[in-house]
Amino acid sequence: MYQLKINDLSEQEFLTQFWQKKPLLIKQGFSNFQDPLDANELAGLAMEDSIESRIVTNHNNEWQSHQGPFEDFEQLTEQHSTLLVQAVDHWHNDAAQLLEPFRFIPNWRIDDLMISYSTPGGGVGAHLDQYDVFIIQGEGKRHWRVGLPDPSLKQFTQNKTLLQVEAFTAVIDCILEPGDILYIPPGCPHEGYAVENALNYSVGFRAPNQQDLLSSFADHIIDTESGQKRYTDHNLTLRESKGELSDTEVDKVKVLMQALLNDHTLFKQWLGTTLSQPKHDMDLMPVEQPFNAAQIADAINSDDISFERLGGTRAIYQQTADELLVSVNGENYSVPNSDLNAVKLLTDFTGFNAQQLKNTAPSLVFIEIFTTLINEGIWFN
Ligand code: SIN
Ligand code: CO
Repeated sequence: MYQLKINDLSEQEFLTQFWQKKPLLIKQGFSNFQDPLDANELAGLAMEDSIESRIVTNHNNEWQSHQGPFEDFEQLTEQHSTLLVQAVDHWHNDAAQLLEPFRFIPNWRIDDLMISYSTPGGGVGAHLDQYDVFIIQGEGKRHWRVGLPDPSLKQFTQNKTLLQVEAFTAVIDCILEPGDILYIPPGCPHEGYAVENALNYSVGFRAPNQQDLLSSFADHIIDTESGQKRYTDHNLTLRESKGELSDTEVDKVKVLMQALLNDHTLFKQWLGTTLSQPKHDMDLMPVEQPFNAAQIADAINSDDISFERLGGTRAIYQQTADELLVSVNGENYSVPNSDLNAVKLLTDFTGFNAQQLKNTAPSLVFIEIFTTLINEGIWFN
C-alpha cells in the first residue's frame, strides 16, 4: 500500500491551498517508492488491442506520435521517445494501488492511471491539460517545468496529432526523483523530459464540461423516451407582428426544457449512469457458472471470504427522496436506505470481507444486485 505525504500539509490543507488553484511539488510524496511494474510489463500492455497506447518521439525537434497497439518497439528509441499507456489501473492490479492514496478526493472525480516510460530527452512537449493531474516519478529522473495558467499562451498542433503550447515561464522547475510527485491543476502549462530512463504515473481526474453533460443528458432522454411534453399555447392572442418570436415564447421554451433538468429522478438517474461510465475497456471476466442470490447470501453468512473490486470500476451512490441510487459502471440500481452501509462497502472501498458486509445486515434487494455484480465479474473473491 502506498502512503501519501503531501509535504507538511493535511489533505484538507492541500485541498484548501492547492487543489484547482496552484501547482505543487511534493518531494518524497511516497518515500522508498517501489514501481508497481517495469518498462517491459508496460510494453506488454501496449501490445494489447483493448488498451490505448502511443509512442511519442522528438528527434531533432521533429515531433511524431504513433498510435498503439504495437507489435514491436522500434519507435521507442534509446533517446527522445516516450511510451504512454492509458487506464493501466483497469489491467494491472499492483499499478491500480497507486490510485488509492488519492481517494481522499471524491472518487467520481478520479479518472484513470496513465503510465509513461521515457528515454533520455523523451516527453510529450509543453502542453496544457484540461484536468487536474498528479504525476508521480517512478524509476529514473525527469526534468519538469510547470507554469501558471496564462490565457495569452498559444496552443498549436505538432504533426497534426500532438497539441502543444508555446514557451512559458515556469514557477516549478525541478528534477523529479523516485517518489516525488507534481500536482498540476487544469490549464497550467507543463513539460517533462527524461534525464535518464524514467517511469511516470499520472493520476488523472475528470471534470465534465457543459457540452459533455448536455449531449449525454440528451442521449439519456432519448434512451429513456423521456421529454415528450410538447410546447403549448392555449392562451394565444392576436399580435401585431406575426413574424415575431416573443420573449414570452422564448421563456416558455426555456421553461419546457428546464422542466427536464428539474426532474430530480430523471436527473439523478442520468447523472449516475454518466459519471459512473468508464471511458476505457475493462478486464471483465463474467463467472462461468452464475451464482444465485441464495448462494451469495450463504457465502456472506458463513464464509471467511473477501471481495475485491475489479480495477477501473466506477461505483457511486446518491440519496434520493425514498431510496439509494447506486451506479456501477454506467448501470443504475435502487436499494432501500437501510442499505447505506452495505452500499458504502461497494462505493468507498476497493475491497471488503464477508463479515463486514454481514454486519451491515444487507437487504435481499442488495444481495440480488451484488449477485449480479459478482456474476458480471465486477466484484470477485
Ligand atoms: C507523461 O508522462 O509524459 C505525460 C504526463 C503529462 O504531462 O500529463
Ligand atoms: Co500533461
